[in-house]
Amino acid sequence: MPYLLALDQGTTSSRAIIFSDAGDIKAIEQNEFKQYYPQPGWVEHDPEEIWQSQLEVVTAVLDSARLKPADISALGITNQRETTVVWDRKSGQPIHPAIVWQDRRTADVCQKLRSAGHLQTVREKTGLLLDPYFSGTKIAWILDHVPSARKLADSGQLACGTIDTWLVNKLTGGSLHITDVSNASRTLLMNIHTGDWDNELLELFRIPRSILPEIRPSSEIYGEVDSSLQLSGMKIGGIAGDQQSALFGQSCFEKGATKNTYGTGCFMLMNTSTEAAASQNNLLTTVAWKIDDKIEYALEGSVFVGGAVVSWLRDGLGVIKSSSEVEALASSVPDSGGVFLVPAFAGLGAPHWDPYARGTILGITGGTTAAHIARAAIESIVFQVADLLEAMRSDTGVHLSELRVDGGASVNNAMLQFQADILQLPVVRPTVTETTALGAAYLAGLASGVWGSREDIAHHWKIDQRFEPQMLPAKSEVLRARWQEAVDRTKNWEKA
Ligand code: G3P
Repeated sequence: MPYLLALDQGTTSSRAIIFSDAGDIKAIEQNEFKQYYPQPGWVEHDPEEIWQSQLEVVTAVLDSARLKPADISALGITNQRETTVVWDRKSGQPIHPAIVWQDRRTADVCQKLRSAGHLQTVREKTGLLLDPYFSGTKIAWILDHVPSARKLADSGQLACGTIDTWLVNKLTGGSLHITDVSNASRTLLMNIHTGDWDNELLELFRIPRSILPEIRPSSEIYGEVDSSLQLSGMKIGGIAGDQQSALFGQSCFEKGATKNTYGTGCFMLMNTSTEAAASQNNLLTTVAWKIDDKIEYALEGSVFVGGAVVSWLRDGLGVIKSSSEVEALASSVPDSGGVFLVPAFAGLGAPHWDPYARGTILGITGGTTAAHIARAAIESIVFQVADLLEAMRSDTGVHLSELRVDGGASVNNAMLQFQADILQLPVVRPTVTETTALGAAYLAGLASGVWGSREDIAHHWKIDQRFEPQMLPAKSEVLRARWQEAVDRTKNWEKA
């Protein structure tokens, strides 16, 4: 039986999953790695640590599945997007830690570009906004702050890329410097209508073309793993940013099909097929994937802190010991007792886009307990997702019949019930919630011939549980209005 291997390099952990040709999980391994916070608002990763942690789980997953590299038809890579690495082409060594998507250090640069009137061009060409979230200003920051980096870049000695590019480069012993179009669409440097790097944007963000990877489709055989590695000879057949990969893994192939992933952040994507639909509500227009020479698009709402608020309850506040305890603690009280927590730890993403917002907890009384705070934290994830869906509805006029969900926090039944209540819409969880990795496996399997078409793939999608709304609409409206008030209070805090 042919198997597919997915490398899912996320913000807080590296995972490797082996799928069967029926799309079932055969084995899974996960490794958390270190987050570095050198200054408030800054977030970094060690690219070598990312690579090592990824390599360890790949070795471990093959062992636990008792498979040899020759049993794997192809591997697919999916990754935290926007996070940026710059390295020396000759030594393969990074010249600076990776700057993570959550990092806000280039907020002022973005503000200046906005004031200089560049937003419209950027929006039209990239579908993005001028926000430090995206890679362009992060690459420029590294080139400007590492001694001699600009000179080295201009003379062709440096390479840069998002995490997919970094992993492919490592896997191929430095021989491939490529990215896929979905990852490239998050850099602010690619024109999403042509699928190529854009000279005007490169000039605006001061990025030399020579350091950028080649942009390739999301599903094709790009090359093979280098002979020095245990995976030697394995074909690399799929690359996609993790949210686009999850859209693919949820079999959201039709126009209008929508999924929400509860990962570190929350990311809602709606398939808009070959139309790069522009948003009137501060959503992003992004490339979903390119397959068989056809680019397809998605509308995206990105929230920076989703499941990460649970990590904060565990690591920052210490009210739980492990993330799995949160459902029981939050469910030990009937409601949040009037407490609203807005986890704007890294500013606010869609639809507000305020890099200067910071988190807040409102409504605390003498009777507030850790359980109420935990409940408010879980509810904050739900309210943020509801804001995204509302923006999507008003952009597209599409009224969904259901919302497909996945990601780590989607195991939380109480949260998904509250999500259905607040959205007043059925929420559907598939049997395989590792849809990010599944999407990468599907893309690789399409390239290696395990599946012939998306129709073949769509047969494997099965429902685990469906959550129907139970709350009265009026109550949901009252709670959402209160949430909006709380969000407004977090805005512009860093500058105040
Ligand atoms: O855009 C950032 C996103 O790709 C990160 O995803 O799953 O690591 O929160 P995740």
